[in-house]
Amino acid sequence: MKKILSVVGARPNFMKVAPIHRAFSAYPEVEHLILHTGQHYDAAMSDAFFQDLDMPQPSYFMGVGSGSHAEQTAKVMVEFEKAMHELKPDFVIVVGDVNSTIACTLTAVKMGIPTAHVEAGLRSGDRAMPEEINRIATDSICDYWFVTEQSGLDNLKHDGHPDDRVFFVGNTMIDSLHYALPNADKSDILERVGLTSKQYVLVTMHRPSNVDEPKQLGELLEILAELSQDRTVVFPVHPRTRKNIASHGLSGIIESNPNLVLIDPQGYIAFLALMKNSDFVLTDSGGIQEETTALGVPCLTIRTTTERPITCEIGTNTLVEPTTEGIRTALKLTLNSPAKTGHVPPLWDGKAAERIANIIVTQCLGL
Ligand code: UD1
Repeated sequence: MKKILSVVGARPNFMKVAPIHRAFSAYPEVEHLILHTGQHYDAAMSDAFFQDLDMPQPSYFMGVGSGSHAEQTAKVMVEFEKAMHELKPDFVIVVGDVNSTIACTLTAVKMGIPTAHVEAGLRSGDRAMPEEINRIATDSICDYWFVTEQSGLDNLKHDGHPDDRVFFVGNTMIDSLHYALPNADKSDILERVGLTSKQYVLVTMHRPSNVDEPKQLGELLEILAELSQDRTVVFPVHPRTRKNIASHGLSGIIESNPNLVLIDPQGYIAFLALMKNSDFVLTDSGGIQEETTALGVPCLTIRTTTERPITCEIGTNTLVEPTTEGIRTALKLTLNSPAKTGHVPPLWDGKAAERIANIIVTQCLGL
């Protein structure tokens, strides 16, 4: 019996690993364990996802919590090395681009454990994003690469990785979306928040570049307040953003604009329902660009680059310059012209995790 260990750490990891865990249940010759680094620790940022995605509790929880990038990455490495000695996996899977991804890859690879990166090859070209450094570093040392879109294949080829260990499998995040949509359709989140389908704009914002500086955050909130004169704006707030709104003295903007509705971070199913029923989404997230493309909902991404170019090329995503003028212009255009339509990218069909499990069992482990 071979032991495979998948790492989760932060919110966007959970929906990528849940379908992989399910897919391995078809293989009695392997045992699949989930290890949680504890990078995200609030119930709303972590526990809610395990429930919504029908994931078992992690076999191992490290509880590393927050810190600077160096502190957080180092803490994950130290604790993960201990976990590896205890669990002795034959194979490690890391997903995405968070600090836990690179920390565990670096540790596992140096311990000689074959390591696969799911969502490999994505590049924004913007080295100021911590996630870009995590992607480059993870891809440069892992042993197998599972890819979601053509640009990932192109980038890995450019970097000289061996073709026979790079696999175009589709998108496990979209597997979770397919899995949870029937439950999202039954969610009562719209009634609870007082929203009407297609009559509101959904906003998420948590990138340091958008929410850490009082000036940028204040301007963004002013724009949302303006938008809320036209359309209800619902904004599930990441803890980082929530803290900054309070500490920068910006709560007044929210209080004086009742149509700008701040709510707590939502679980997976409620958030999916909010996305699916929104008129459009305004975000700085990575994964939401893909989920909106899969749902056919227009998405404005407040960033100058994207590591997921397929969402702009054939999906519903549009990049927006993160300046007040850039965002105002994009919002005006979106409110006054027909919505951007798109297609679902190749292999985003809900079966990516099944392909990954099959390749790992038969080709990587040779069982
Ligand atoms: C992380 C990922 C980012 C991802 C995001 C999704 C990295 C480099 N970044 O960013 O790619 O898009 O998760 O949510 O790994 N906090 C809490 N409770 C929590 C988690 C965080 O209060 O459960 C607060 C802490 O003050 C912490 C801050 O949020 O310092 C940032 O958390 P951190 O995990 O460092 O990065 P994120 O901004 O969440």
